[in-house]
This record gives sequence, C-alpha cells and structure tokens, in this order.
Amino acid sequence: MKIAIVGPGAIGCLIAGLLKIKTKEDVWIYDNLQTRAARLKDSGIKIEGLSGNHQVKVSIASDAKEIGLCDFVFICVKSYSTEDACKDIKDLVGENTFIVTLQNGIGNVQILDDYFGPEKVIAGITNHGATLLGAGHVKHAGKGDTIIGKADGKLSGTLKQISNLLSKAGFDTKISKDIDSVVWGKLIINVGINALTAITRLNNGRLIEYAEARSLMRAAVQEAAKVVKRKRIKLAYDDPIQKAESVSKATAGNISSMLQDVLNKKRTEIDFINGAVVRQGKALGIATPVNEVLTNLVKTIEASYDKAVK
Ligand code: PAF
Repeated sequence: MKIAIVGPGAIGCLIAGLLKIKTKEDVWIYDNLQTRAARLKDSGIKIEGLSGNHQVKVSIASDAKEIGLCDFVFICVKSYSTEDACKDIKDLVGENTFIVTLQNGIGNVQILDDYFGPEKVIAGITNHGATLLGAGHVKHAGKGDTIIGKADGKLSGTLKQISNLLSKAGFDTKISKDIDSVVWGKLIINVGINALTAITRLNNGRLIEYAEARSLMRAAVQEAAKVVKRKRIKLAYDDPIQKAESVSKATAGNISSMLQDVLNKKRTEIDFINGAVVRQGKALGIATPVNEVLTNLVKTIEASYDKAVK
C-alpha cells in the first residue's frame, strides 16, 4: 500500500515514522518546503518518548508527482493550511484514494469534502500528544484514543483497513458511526487546553494545577458544550469538563500544539478551535465571552511576536 503523510509537523512525523517502522508499507511524506524536504531526506525521522527511540528513513518529496497516486493520504498540516494542501496534493489522489484527516479544529472535513468529494474523505481525531523538537525530530509525549469514521456514518472495509494500519503502528484506533460527535468532542478538549496553555506557557498537566486557569478552562469548555448541545450533537462522553481535565492529565508532559506554535513564533489554529466556538455561538445566539477573550489574546500574541518584551 502507498501512504502519504501531508505535512512533516509533530503528528505527521510521528505517524509517518511509526507506520514505516511497524507496518513496512510504502510510506511517503509530502513537504511543500523543498529545502526542508531535502534535509529530511538525508536525516530521516527521529522519534523519542512513549513509543521508544527510533531513527527511520521515509521517502520524502516536495513535488506530489514524485509520489504519485496513493491508497491513503493523511492530512497532517495545520488547519489554516488545509486549503493550500488540497491544491498541492492533487497528484496523490486518484479514483481509489481515501483522504484521512486527524487534524485539530472544526472546518477541515468541509474543506476536504469540497475539494475531493465526501465519498473520499475520512474524518477523525487523535488524542496522542507529539512535540516537534526540531525538523523531523519528534517526541511522543502522550497517548490517547484515535477514532475515525465517515460523515455518512457508513462502516466500510476501508475504515477497518485504516484502523488496522494505525493500530499496528501503535495508534490504537476505533471506528465511530457518529464521527461528527467525535470531532466536536475533540474540539471541546482543544478548546479547554490549547489557548490556555499557549497564553500561560504551561504544559497540559500543569494547567490544571492552578485554580484560576482550571476555572477558565471549565468556563471555555462549558460554552463550547452549549454550542454542541444546541447543534444537537451528542457527545461520546457525559461530562465535557471531566473529559478535558482527564486529557490534560493523560498528556501531562505534552506541550500543546498551540503552545508549540507560540514558542516557535508561528501562526496558531485559534480560528479553528476557540474562534470556531465564537463563530458558531454567534450564529446560534449563544454567548461565548471566555472563548472570545481567549481567541483575542492568542491572536494578539500571534500578531506581536517581534514586539513582545523579552
Ligand atoms: O493539540 C494538541 O496539543 C492535542 O490535540 C492535545 C490532545 C490537546 C494534546 O496536547
């Protein structure tokens, strides 16, 4: 099977590296940056942390034509780059290709559906924590569920194939008939953890050790849960606050993806996480003041990297 991982970020490198080591499939990374792709081709992927220490060579290309048609394409770019990635990877996608997104946030499935057609798109989430320590160098910092499904709820052999593949690589993967609920369920976790860790610069575990941060986390999660309820989406867990806190504990040592972005002075996924809750809240007439403040703070941090007092 030919598998392409689009984007050599933390989760992209972790999935690509472990798929290569544990499954021996034909694994490729698509990297839109030519110089980085050339560097990664030489150095390979280095993994440390919960899944052990590994150094592995994976085929890497910055021209999708070099990779050619794939069986499965995993989209691992940041949510704000999904649209550009779709344009870049058309040579990977043929009649029998399936595209899997495990990205954070709300909106990626819609972008992929619009571009490739919903029949090709498999939605999902992963609660594994991964920290990018350098180009191609990733620390596996937290384990959690990985869940995939089709938006129409249909179960297929393809879903089973992908879940077997990911499970073999060490990402214990379940299939859901209600993937919308899973994706929104994950959003609530990111709403509780990501912006607050990016603002406080605490790791996921430390965040809930501070009463004030914990109370903001609870308020942000509660607002998102109201939006979900109004949308008549049934979450797979009963208590969203308890769930967000338990993921913080399970990924205690992890530096959230949004804090990694801030530390690396990069754009964050705030618009697809807390910002998405604010937008949906407005459309539904639900007040989301805490998410609005968190969104505005992260956007200010993002816009002022070069002006911040050192
Ligand atoms: O975005 C992240 O960092 C991850 O989704 C999670 C689960 C919050 C762990 O850090």
